[in-house]
Amino acid sequence: MNDDLARLREMREKAVVGGGEKRIAEQHKRGKMTARERLAALLDEGSFQEIGALATHNCSDFGMAAQRYPGDGVVAGFGKINGRRVAIFAHDFTVLGGSLSVVQSQKICRVHDLAMESGIPLIGLNDSGGARIQEGVRSLAAYGEMFTRNVLASGVIPQISVILGPCAGGAVYSPALTDFVIMAEGTSFMFITGPEVIKAVTGEQVSAVDLGGPAVHNSRSGVAHLLAASEAQALELVKLLLSYLPQNNTEDPPQVVPHDVADRMDDRLNEIVPARENEPYDMHEVIEAVFDHDSFLEIHPYFARNAIVGFARLDGHSVGIVANQPAHLAGALDIDSSDKIARFVSTCDAFNIPLVTFVDTPGYLPGVDQEHYGIIRHGSKVIYAFCQATVPKITIVTRKAMGGAYVAMCSKQMRSDLAFAWPSAQIAVMGAVGAVRVLRRKELAAAGDPEALEGQFVAEYHERFMNPYMAADTGQIDEVIEPRETRPRLVRALEVLRTKVQQNPPKKHGIIPM
Ligand code: HXC
Repeated sequence: MNDDLARLREMREKAVVGGGEKRIAEQHKRGKMTARERLAALLDEGSFQEIGALATHNCSDFGMAAQRYPGDGVVAGFGKINGRRVAIFAHDFTVLGGSLSVVQSQKICRVHDLAMESGIPLIGLNDSGGARIQEGVRSLAAYGEMFTRNVLASGVIPQISVILGPCAGGAVYSPALTDFVIMAEGTSFMFITGPEVIKAVTGEQVSAVDLGGPAVHNSRSGVAHLLAASEAQALELVKLLLSYLPQNNTEDPPQVVPHDVADRMDDRLNEIVPARENEPYDMHEVIEAVFDHDSFLEIHPYFARNAIVGFARLDGHSVGIVANQPAHLAGALDIDSSDKIARFVSTCDAFNIPLVTFVDTPGYLPGVDQEHYGIIRHGSKVIYAFCQATVPKITIVTRKAMGGAYVAMCSKQMRSDLAFAWPSAQIAVMGAVGAVRVLRRKELAAAGDPEALEGQFVAEYHERFMNPYMAADTGQIDEVIEPRETRPRLVRALEVLRTKVQQNPPKKHGIIPM
């Protein structure tokens, strides 16, 4: 072997070990894979094409001249996932905690630019302590470069972030700007600043898990969209998620060979809504019965559980599902569920994924906290997102569709293409008791037996308003269908709507209530 080749091989070998064997062993001891092991687990075998493997930083402050590692804390390049091209980077925590240097940012920005130019998804495997402290303000600027790309790529190519270590500072803001954040039990954390700094600044004592562990971000903050039991499962979730998404916003999502009968009717659906109107049922059962067998991937399953959002397939085609969940908070819309729905609707719209909305909600959640924390501001996001969406939209009212929430949940006037209702639907301005107490106050006050009279008025109101027929009469519902017919109806409707073209007025961008 000549000297040139020997030199190249030596440098490549160095790049492969990153921060060294000791730190790799430490990484393994924490139950974490190395950056290269993660890439090998996620990408099709032999498909990875690396860039910048030999790049190093040029900082000499704080003894950094002695800490130069080829690749500088990130492995970046291109590969394939189930045959589909992706751009990808994986932080190498063994090199200075995967902290972001100028060089690291340049490598990530390079694959990001190429992803945009080629119209392919960008996947980030994050395991980084944020801005590299030794590089000072230059590393902050380096994040600025990445954030700009995250934002410009938003709605153009899918951006998926997997959090696989303690991520702080810019290493959480960049993922937060992407479309999906996946966390893994036991190894991932997200915070703008860690427990030590919090203790120093505010005096609060909190563990890393309680501050920014996977449970916190999947159930309370809503920062994370999916929770995996392990790193390996988190990487599998990336593959699954991608299977519902197109390569970019000019393409349709991938279609799979249907494995379920298009005209299948499920008689259980006719019995699913309980006879007593306040009795809960699980909307997951409706989703499972209607869409292609085992095709539902729920997004945000632990956050704002009064709403359900996720991807599924209908006759092999990707669809986005939005639903109220009567089994949780009676399906009322509150601040968090409004954010959850609005974001998902807007994601589906960006990536040409038709929307199917199931409605069973008593309305927006009343309460002082809700009002004070901005239910008006957050609730209006649902309206905004549905109105703005130009993908095919089909709505099915299964039971309650009350007041503003009926309108907000993709009613006909919000440019829904087709609106169906089950016979159990109750489409009205408000519930019977509330309405009677407003409309019949004087008569009830003067009555000898107000309770009996109220019962009579409630029954009358029920008969007149608590059904789908007034809405069907006024054209707000296209058809009242048997619940078991829902799947074939949807299959046919989406087939017709597949070539739908609808445009919004030209503008720089709308101003979503934030
Ligand atoms: C340089 C860093 C670093 C950083 C970690 N390291 N973070 N080096 N810059 N930001 C180094 C450590 O010195 C250590 O080096 C190695 O990485 C592993 O770190 P440990 O602390 O030993 O690991 P662990 O105990 O797992 O803790 C990980 C951590 C902690 C929670 C990430 O290191 C930490 O709190 N780091 C600082 C996080 C932070 O506040 N970042 C915000 C930066 S500001 P050795 O040589 O010992 O192996 C920012 C703003 C951007 O990002 C702009 C946003 C708008």
